[in-house]
Amino acid sequence: MTKARENYREDVAGRANVEDTPELLAYYNDLERLDAGALWTVANKIEPWQPKSASVPVLWRYRDLRDHVLRSVDLVTPEKAGRRVIYLNNPGRQDVAAAVGWLYSGLQVMHPGETASAHAHSASALRFIMEGAGAYTIVDGHKMTLGANDFVLTPNGTWHEHGVAEDGAPCIWQDGLDIPLVNALEANFYAVHEDLRQVVGYPVNDSTAIWANPGLQPVGTDWGKPYSPLLKFEWGPTYEALQRYSRVTDGSPYDGVLMNYVNPLTGGPVMQTIGASMQLLRPGERTKAHRHTGSFIYQVAKGKGYSIIDGKRFDWQERDIFCVPSWAWHEHGNASESEDACLFTFNDLPVMQSLGLYREEAFGDNDGQQPLVA
Ligand SMILES: [Fe+2]
Ligand SMILES: [Fe+2]
Repeated sequence: MTKARENYREDVAGRANVEDTPELLAYYNDLERLDAGALWTVANKIEPWQPKSASVPVLWRYRDLRDHVLRSVDLVTPEKAGRRVIYLNNPGRQDVAAAVGWLYSGLQVMHPGETASAHAHSASALRFIMEGAGAYTIVDGHKMTLGANDFVLTPNGTWHEHGVAEDGAPCIWQDGLDIPLVNALEANFYAVHEDLRQVVGYPVNDSTAIWANPGLQPVGTDWGKPYSPLLKFEWGPTYEALQRYSRVTDGSPYDGVLMNYVNPLTGGPVMQTIGASMQLLRPGERTKAHRHTGSFIYQVAKGKGYSIIDGKRFDWQERDIFCVPSWAWHEHGNASESEDACLFTFNDLPVMQSLGLYREEAFGDNDGQQPLVA
């Protein structure tokens, strides 16, 4: 018996365009029984003309999510939950628990005195602090204290744990990981530290003391790891750098004043699979639209404004999170005429670039700005 099949024919020279016949359908069935198939039946589906993201643009408003995040404190302990996190679930990527593309993100909450057990995984991870006081992270024995808008790395394979000091205040931060990517590559390992805690083996905040001095490289240090030795990027110097840079540059037409967080030893991305940056939109600034490969998750670190993503406008304010799927048109605007706005973002650009898959295109029409779709 032959059965109906999906048909991806395209009437374009060079593309598969084979009409189903009873004989061919029978042939396809024969192949299927041998765990094989005829490429022309699926070629146009598996090789789209351009990237086809399964993700949709989403804006997660902090004012909508915050109470629910805090509620999790009464519902589960960090011990039982492992990590008490509310994750961001893109409607198009629920099967892989991704916020966009192959990137995972979630909001984690901890109360003073709470700690999460030490663990390690193949996924690379980062945290961006949203609110609270007294948060800390320990990465391979390096303890770092954290404040709002600080950005900290927990690279692939490192032992890490998080907590909030007894005299702190409830903390919420954003986690960002490439769990979906590492799972897609079928390379994910997870381990819980045998003592559940690691020993702090270095002076607190030694990472920034050694590596966060711009233009200065410490003598007598040794670092052979494939990720940044600077594990924490503080908000104060980051914002100051953006302000200084903004005084002497027109910035990017697509991103305003943008600076990448980098490995100070290489100038390259902070981790092998995840890149991150902070950008400043000057008062009233509106960028032009472009699109590129790679998935991006933004958090509004400061100010208010809007982004237009594939023709749809998303109005954001401080602490809101939104995503830009691969190859989606996007442009940003600062809604204030007097205050700057800052967007933190992390992305899979290091993967795109190292695999030779990065591509970028400007929106040529309409003076570079997208018309809004209803
Ligand atoms: Fe982790
Ligand atoms: Fe972009």
